[in-house]
Amino acid sequence: MAETTAPGKGRRVSTSGDVEVSKYLETAEKKGEAVPDPTALPKSSDEAIVIVDFGSQYSHLIARRVRECHVYCEIIPHTAPLSAFSHLNIKGVILSGGPSSVYDKGAPTIHSSILEGRVPTLGICYGMQALAHQLGGKVALGQHREYGHAVLHQSTAKHPLFDGLPSSLPVWMSHGDLVTEAPSGFRSLGYTENSPIAVMGNSKNIFALQFHPEVAHTPLGKQILENFLYKICGCHGAWTAGNFVEESMQRIREQVGDGRVLCALSGGVDSTVVATLIHKAIGDQLTCIFVNNGLLRREEPERVQDTLKRRAGLNLLYVDATEEFLSGLKGVTDPEQKRKIIGRMFIDVFERQATRIGKVDFLAQGTLYPDVIESKTKENTTSVTIKTHHNVGGLPEHMNLKLIEPLRYLFKDEVREVGLALGLPEDVVFRQPFPGPGLAIRIIGEVTADRLDALRGCDWVVMDEIKAANLYRELWQSFAVLTSSHSVGVMGDNRTYGYVAAVRAVTSDDAMTADWARLPYDVLAKISSRIVNEVPQVNRVVYDITSKPPGTIEWE
Ligand code: XMP
Repeated sequence: MAETTAPGKGRRVSTSGDVEVSKYLETAEKKGEAVPDPTALPKSSDEAIVIVDFGSQYSHLIARRVRECHVYCEIIPHTAPLSAFSHLNIKGVILSGGPSSVYDKGAPTIHSSILEGRVPTLGICYGMQALAHQLGGKVALGQHREYGHAVLHQSTAKHPLFDGLPSSLPVWMSHGDLVTEAPSGFRSLGYTENSPIAVMGNSKNIFALQFHPEVAHTPLGKQILENFLYKICGCHGAWTAGNFVEESMQRIREQVGDGRVLCALSGGVDSTVVATLIHKAIGDQLTCIFVNNGLLRREEPERVQDTLKRRAGLNLLYVDATEEFLSGLKGVTDPEQKRKIIGRMFIDVFERQATRIGKVDFLAQGTLYPDVIESKTKENTTSVTIKTHHNVGGLPEHMNLKLIEPLRYLFKDEVREVGLALGLPEDVVFRQPFPGPGLAIRIIGEVTADRLDALRGCDWVVMDEIKAANLYRELWQSFAVLTSSHSVGVMGDNRTYGYVAAVRAVTSDDAMTADWARLPYDVLAKISSRIVNEVPQVNRVVYDITSKPPGTIEWE
């Protein structure tokens, strides 16, 4: 994962004389955790919020909400002293929720550097209970479970945390333990029917909420977070896509010097944004390689070349390796085998092309912040492998390239904003995700030129009709699958015996879970009728109504 090769790996932050920081960094490195990398940050992050992670499933969501308020933030482990992140100019701390009870053996605790109250702090759920527990208040164990909607009533008029909000507002609760007595110096700022102290605060700007302001079920929660950031922490909101572009270009120039950078383009949003940003910064010191593995959608190779080579003027090497990939996949039907073969062949082709370019110093990658945060969890959990995702990037070590990852601290929606700020067309910026192994994992059974041709035809119709119905941006993904089943049909007066094609359309926020999209019947009718008319190999169309879980988004 990105952690092992990150540019900041091993780079120490303000360690001089700070034994606690050195100790923390040493342990973090041993555990494979991300080590703070001050050089990766643009200047607009000169004000930052840190989110201390107590294992909540919502920590990412808190981070996204803060970024949506145009304030830079990072998620940090609860074991970290604040001084390990002193390069961030921390304006405030948010303590996340978490699954523990403060009474659990080994329950995570708030670092003493936060409890001193030198920067404004906001505890959420477990973060509130930990604050109460560690500062001498009382937490009742497990007797007051509260899951779901509640109404919060403010106890004090005109508190800055609730600026602009009504005196009663709907909030979302999800807790077992409950703060029953606030620590000395704190007072209750709000209550619900079941939580007499649903909000508390002291004069040192330490606040806590029993409910979750970050979830959509607390409709005014973003305003509470925004009040905390702007009215209490004094943030200015300099984190914008435009600033990011300007400052990243400067950093890329400093990092690369007169070196040469290589970038693998997949046609997806992330690699396109990375390539465009780096090209803007260093021009022809960047060479991009775009491998056509023969598994792309109709007109995709032309579109990528048109956007990046002809329109943006990138130095782009186009390699048509269709024959090679198809012969490598001959006779292969197992999905995992397909992925492995495609991944291996991609590296072969890419490396061969890269050596033709001459000396290269850096490899540009579209690593995003969720990959950075999740890598540690993924590495440390013994979860069953559902699919081995193949992504551009796992290149052999002997190529000896340093990594450059300008999007390493961005969420996907921020990448899109950066794409727009770079002037990329909307159809590129809002393109639905497309898997690395391409159409190969949407053809059940063997991948052949004829079956690819049939699937491209079906896919074309699905895209066309989804776009015509103005549904493209609403859907996370929409595509066709060529099944291995045949069925009997009748066309004109003749019997047909053709493939069954499936249409899949899902809504999702992050691809971890997904729901099948309730497409309008008339859109489905048009798709079905056009596919059987335009794709001679197919005579029946079905619609996939499986959510994830238990299904996955792709069929293989
Ligand atoms: P699943 O099918 O696991 O897909 O629900 C979740 C998301 O990941 C994409 N996907 C892949 N992406 N290489 C990729 O780069 C892969 O092997 C791969 N398999 C699935 C899928 O399109 C969806 O967005």
